[in-house]
Amino acid sequence: MGLLDLLTFGAGTVVGSQMGLRYANLKQPRPFPRQAAALLDHNLRLKYREPVQSLTPFGIAPGSTVLDLGCGTGLFTTEMARQVGAQGRVHAVDIQEEMIDATRARVTAAGMAQRVSFHHSGAYRLPLESASVDIAILIATLSEIPDRLLALDELRRVIKPGGRIAVSEEMAHPAYVPAQVTRRWLRAAGFRYGGEQGTPFCYSLLYFAE
Ligand SMILES: C[S@@+](CC[C@H](N)C(=O)[O-])C[C@H]1O[C@@H](n2cnc3c(N)ncnc32)[C@H](O)[C@@H]1O
Repeated sequence: MGLLDLLTFGAGTVVGSQMGLRYANLKQPRPFPRQAAALLDHNLRLKYREPVQSLTPFGIAPGSTVLDLGCGTGLFTTEMARQVGAQGRVHAVDIQEEMIDATRARVTAAGMAQRVSFHHSGAYRLPLESASVDIAILIATLSEIPDRLLALDELRRVIKPGGRIAVSEEMAHPAYVPAQVTRRWLRAAGFRYGGEQGTPFCYSLLYFAE
């Protein structure tokens, strides 16, 4: 096999597996596999997902309560904890226990564990009080949840009236959906448009709870 054949074979394998993953997710969304968790922290991803830059547009206020739904390896949780300060609180929630363990280890290593509550939980029934959250943040997560409207309904319960929800999606993620789809979900769940930024490759939408 020549070099060109090898390159063609390699590219075909990558494109083929990406298409397979995307099709499978379209038919049945599923949680990002914990075995691939290292990809969430990969340097290539950090080029467009640097935590400070990613979170700054959401305007997390000191003293506020933030929900990090689908916290994964905690890439953003530590920065959220830094931004809420000593008087604030971050609720890190994930349906996979291994992800919660990874987040706890990361937040603890950063000396921020006092500011974070860790919850091994799914999105349909959150272990949080009604009207207790100032901002719920879902990064590369909403599109993985099979019943988005049920999850958004539950999010509306825990977000304070006038509070916010930020949903961010990226094309590299197998469950990616374009912004117009996410906007439709948020509108259908009764959230009010507050703004957006980014590109089709990686976008963030901000909505308000009434
Ligand atoms: C692609 S990862 C993103 C993790 C993190 N937000 C980030 O951007 O680095 C999505 C995470 O959402 C979690 N997740 C998927 N479905 C969920 C559900 N129904 N309830 C709670 N977490 C869920 C997965 O376990 C996974 O850790």
